[in-house]
Amino acid sequence: MLKLGVIGTGGITKQFIEATQENGSWKLTSVFSRSLEKAEQFGHEFSKNVRGYRDLHQFFSEGDFDVVYIASPNSLHFEQSRQAILAGKHVIVEKPACSNPSEMKVLQRLLRRYNNVYYFEAARHFHEPNFLKIKETIKQMDVIQGATLTYMKYSSKYDDFLTGNEPNVFSLNFSGGALQDLGVYLIYDAVSWFGIPNSVSYKATKLRNGIDGKGVALLNYQDFTVTLNVGKTANSYLPSEVYGLKETLVMDNAADLTDIQLINGSEKQNLTQKSAVNPMTAEVAAFTSILQKPLSLDNKQKMEDWLAVSVQVNRVIYDLRLSEKIVFRADKEFR
Ligand SMILES: NC(=O)c1ccc[n+]([C@@H]2O[C@H](COP(=O)([O-])OP(=O)(O)OC[C@H]3O[C@@H](n4cnc5c(N)ncnc54)[C@H](OP(=O)(O)O)[C@@H]3O)[C@@H](O)[C@H]2O)c1
Repeated sequence: MLKLGVIGTGGITKQFIEATQENGSWKLTSVFSRSLEKAEQFGHEFSKNVRGYRDLHQFFSEGDFDVVYIASPNSLHFEQSRQAILAGKHVIVEKPACSNPSEMKVLQRLLRRYNNVYYFEAARHFHEPNFLKIKETIKQMDVIQGATLTYMKYSSKYDDFLTGNEPNVFSLNFSGGALQDLGVYLIYDAVSWFGIPNSVSYKATKLRNGIDGKGVALLNYQDFTVTLNVGKTANSYLPSEVYGLKETLVMDNAADLTDIQLINGSEKQNLTQKSAVNPMTAEVAAFTSILQKPLSLDNKQKMEDWLAVSVQVNRVIYDLRLSEKIVFRADKEFR
């Protein structure tokens, strides 16, 4: 059994724990929250034996767990991951893993020293069968002429922003914004399917505090361009496409991948793979099989490969953000 500690008591933590329960190899033992009462209440929904903590140092030093799942506001991921690695806990951190490449570098250096610790960014779609099917299909296409990828969903937290408040996901202080929150999925797509772009630029629709509510990003490759449409202040119902020569790979949504078609003239091939009901099931299965055999060299290699993608995605988001002069508090802290 893998013993689990969690940070954050929001809906996404609940969904992750449900995926671990469905997996069957996990046991929730510890919950960290800013409120002890909340931590205990949240934990007891799953088991009466879960212990709550409100002191992060105590959580890591006394908590009886092997793996921590971090689902706090983005700006806190770095420091919480750093403390977890120092405490010898494996880390599953929600996307985006870090606010900028400086933070990422510190963690990479630390992971080299604590080389028995596994560190995963929870980019849920990256492990899903439909994502892998698209990757495999693109590899077989003779010509690639670019892609248009869209992920734009109106956030219920935008209602709150419009009343004058500043929810974390729309805050520069918490490393929020459309690119960080939803764009990260599309950048995972582009980096995994096409590699690292040669240059990037972002045109954002900024909100009153300078955060990006929506925007269009251009990733320039040697022979083609990939366009990303991201947003949290509007809904888009556009499908996403990858362009070959005569064939086009069409997906219903570039992050919530539930339908994939390869279209060539009047021919249509359905490539859709079966997905689990809980979108976190696939990533939990991937992390579980690695964490159950932590000494396997193959598993270490897999983690290194995934970490390399995380580092590249982090770099691309950062460069896009800087091209629009979007500066986070976390960036200033590293100067
Ligand atoms: N994979 C996915 O599908 C998915 C979906 C949604 C979100 N996410 C990711 O999950 C993470 C959390 O997102 P969320 O929407 O749940 O964020 P959130 O509501 O802003 O915060 C998450 C948790 O962090 C704690 N928290 C809130 N504000 C805080 C503050 N000012 N200082 C310290 N702790 C604070 C709260 O727990 P306590 O009150 O218990 O301390 C809260 O439950 C983000 O990184 C996001 O990108 C992923």
